[in-house]
Amino acid sequence: MTSSILVIKNAAQLVTSSSDGRPRRGKDMSELTLLADAALVIKDGTISWVGPTAQLPAIPDSAQVIDATAKTVLPGLVDSHTHLVWAGSREAEFEQRLQGRTYQEIAAAGGGINATVTSVRQASKEQLKAAMRPRLERLLRFGVTTVEVKSGYGLKLTDEVKCLEAIAELDAEGPLELVPTFLGAHAVPPEFRHDQAGYVDLLVRQMLPVIARQKLAEFCDVFCEAGVFSLAEAERILKTARDLGFRLKVHADELTPLGGAQLAARLGAASADHLLCISEAGIDALAGYETVATLLPGTAFFLGMAYAPARRMIERGVAVALASDCNPGTCPSENLPLAGTMACTQMKMMPAEVLTALTVNAAAALDRADRTGSLEVGKQADVIVCDVPNFCQLFYHFGVSHVWRVIKRGRVVFAA
Ligand code: NIG
Ligand code: FE
Repeated sequence: MTSSILVIKNAAQLVTSSSDGRPRRGKDMSELTLLADAALVIKDGTISWVGPTAQLPAIPDSAQVIDATAKTVLPGLVDSHTHLVWAGSREAEFEQRLQGRTYQEIAAAGGGINATVTSVRQASKEQLKAAMRPRLERLLRFGVTTVEVKSGYGLKLTDEVKCLEAIAELDAEGPLELVPTFLGAHAVPPEFRHDQAGYVDLLVRQMLPVIARQKLAEFCDVFCEAGVFSLAEAERILKTARDLGFRLKVHADELTPLGGAQLAARLGAASADHLLCISEAGIDALAGYETVATLLPGTAFFLGMAYAPARRMIERGVAVALASDCNPGTCPSENLPLAGTMACTQMKMMPAEVLTALTVNAAAALDRADRTGSLEVGKQADVIVCDVPNFCQLFYHFGVSHVWRVIKRGRVVFAA
């Protein structure tokens, strides 16, 4: 069989975001390799050459050529934290919050996550997939080529399995690569309202072993929060998951400084996420371990809360990633580059740090930095071409998509 070759040439700027398969921390987050007048060769879905257009090796006539004059070539963005499997919507809660009710008050009154649980339980797998497709399409248009998707609105074995199967089937459908996370510990479902310990037992004894056996999720996540799952409950669930072969993630220190960051670091989690209320001890813990701090500025923006202390984290040597948290309650948006702009203006991250946080470090948060998140020979060809002359404009000219072509595993899957 002849091999398929795709060449991108004449790019005004190409960002390699090179990585050794590990997340970048501290000063390393801002060290991007930028090539001017650059080209990239993809052979059978893998990057085979990167360099100046003037040195482009001879290519066969059959090669597909993309002229990227005046454009920027970047690694496909990785959205490492979403809750995309939902049905229904919660704009009524949005209005309640604008009138002064808090997210926790609404949840305690039966709204919040459990409102979406009711809708998801009523939806068929096909209905969930139909609801997810336009969300995935919007992510693609914003330059996302790999997306983590959590379950967590089923909260019952059959409904959690339905959600995870929807994720697996949409991954197979393509073009986006979906990474499944089991978040059965997202909330205590209504039928266990007076028996939280019973729900934790169910998670540990029944749900996790079945999800593991059916290989429906790579990661296990827990919403560790005051009034949701305590540190001790989170530890029990996460340790069980780890023993069953899951990699771990933690919704940590989102609304209160409970110490989820320290727990995540101590258990060797791939990431600790949210961290709006992280303590100094939490920052120290993350700086000392491989655990990536995944920050979700869209959520702070939408809840009207103070942003995570990204500067302090980076200065102390924490590896920071950024993600959308796309979900119906706290951040109904697929605009990942806009989250990057928020990281700049509200968290004082520099554009170069933001790009690392959306590529290499986000890939590391999904255990995929060895194959995606950077433009290097041998990596999976997940590439975006943006109609701007440099990567900074992606965050500077905000709120719109500059994505002109999306290439997933060497195939053009979106053209503006
Ligand atoms: O990431 N923190 C918990 N989970 C989501 C919110 C989910 C919801 O409100 O539906 C979050 O913010
Ligand atoms: Fe979340």
